[in-house]
Amino acid sequence: MSTGAETSTYSARQIGRVRDLLTRLHAVRRAAQFYPAVHPSVTEGIAELREVIDKFHSEGVEVSLALCEGEVLFGEQSMPQESILFDQLIREITALGVGTIEISRGYRPDELERAIAILASDVLDVEQHGGIERMGAEAGLSYVRLGAVRAFERLEEGEFDAERARESYEGAVELVREIDDIVRRNRVVGSGRIKGVVRSLVDNVVSSRETMLELTGLKSHDEYTFYHSANVAILSLALGSAITDDYRFLSSLGTGALLHDLGKMTVDLEILNKPGALTPAEWNEVRNHSVSGARTASRIRGLDKSAIVIILEHHMRFDGSGYPARTPRRPQHLASRIVAVADAYDAMTSRRSYSAARVHDEAMELLVRSAGTALDPALVRLFVTMMGVYPPRSVVRLSDGSTAIVLRPNASDPLRPVIRMIADADGSMLSEPVEVDLGASSGQDIVRCLDPADLNIDVDGYVL
Ligand SMILES: [Fe+2]
Repeated sequence: MSTGAETSTYSARQIGRVRDLLTRLHAVRRAAQFYPAVHPSVTEGIAELREVIDKFHSEGVEVSLALCEGEVLFGEQSMPQESILFDQLIREITALGVGTIEISRGYRPDELERAIAILASDVLDVEQHGGIERMGAEAGLSYVRLGAVRAFERLEEGEFDAERARESYEGAVELVREIDDIVRRNRVVGSGRIKGVVRSLVDNVVSSRETMLELTGLKSHDEYTFYHSANVAILSLALGSAITDDYRFLSSLGTGALLHDLGKMTVDLEILNKPGALTPAEWNEVRNHSVSGARTASRIRGLDKSAIVIILEHHMRFDGSGYPARTPRRPQHLASRIVAVADAYDAMTSRRSYSAARVHDEAMELLVRSAGTALDPALVRLFVTMMGVYPPRSVVRLSDGSTAIVLRPNASDPLRPVIRMIADADGSMLSEPVEVDLGASSGQDIVRCLDPADLNIDVDGYVL
């Protein structure tokens, strides 16, 4: 896949043109399957495809398509809608073993013709030639490249940027918002968008865990479910990626984590937000959300089956004393145990109508107290190590009484992160916040975490 600067952002018009590119590719490939290369359906199809390729090239954009697990990417940009629309094309091309199609500036028309002929061949042909890359080499392709299906690959350092992390996060929130709307209208959700969003979350968490973890500090009281779902997905993926880099596992984990509370979307909001104690009937309805969520998820065509297990088991508790009860008792799946830790942490650190948000160190203490009963003790230990004592966005009090916001951890000393001082000891806000690396200065210590809501501090204003 191309890694040049052109992969980072495209204009809306260019993104729209990708659909045109795929439509023309699909058409000419079909034509080439039925007619000889000299037939007008093929030659005209090639000419139409060239038109759109040349338009990209004239704007300095390389044409680079990646196909993987039912999804299509243009450059590094996920194309969720096109992944659904061109599902058949993607499946047929990946069945040939083609994972990438790249067309560079300077390509010759006859080279494109040969590439289309290869894409129009059948699986047996490709196998007999020893694979797609060998076939391309034999056809003398150089500016048009057909790459083999590749396994999940970590992004190189430098390819990642904070803006993309933010887009990925917002994409996840938006997706849950849309799913909520669809489920409330009793309609069936499609799995294509879900796969695109999860892939983007996995890529971003694996390539820059800290930046993604920083985003989980974003909370919304009004849209709790949507932000909570995105946060649980990121926290789960961060914890999961500390255990394995197996893409399939992480992908199922991310999907289950993002949809873990799918069943709550059909529970009455008045019950979910009720400040007082629930009646037994209301409590039953809430408890039923894991079973009803798993049932809804099982109706999503193409959704990973392990994600359904996570939705079903996320309240089962490590010791099996939660719900739904399973007879005979079965141990909670590893992925469900991971999601349970992430769910507990994010719920505790969010403000709800029935409880205030807990500060980070308090939440960590409660997690440790639940280790061995509600939560897997090994995962809790790993989570505490991963999140550090003072994670990014924590508001902290320093030993001289001043206030600061944690920006990023210090790998060598978890107690001394890089901070931004925002108020002095008497509480007056600094007109110019000052960044201090506590690891490099010996003067101050962090005494404790503070609740930004108590101090009326807008953390986003200081860290973003
Ligand atoms: Fe839940």
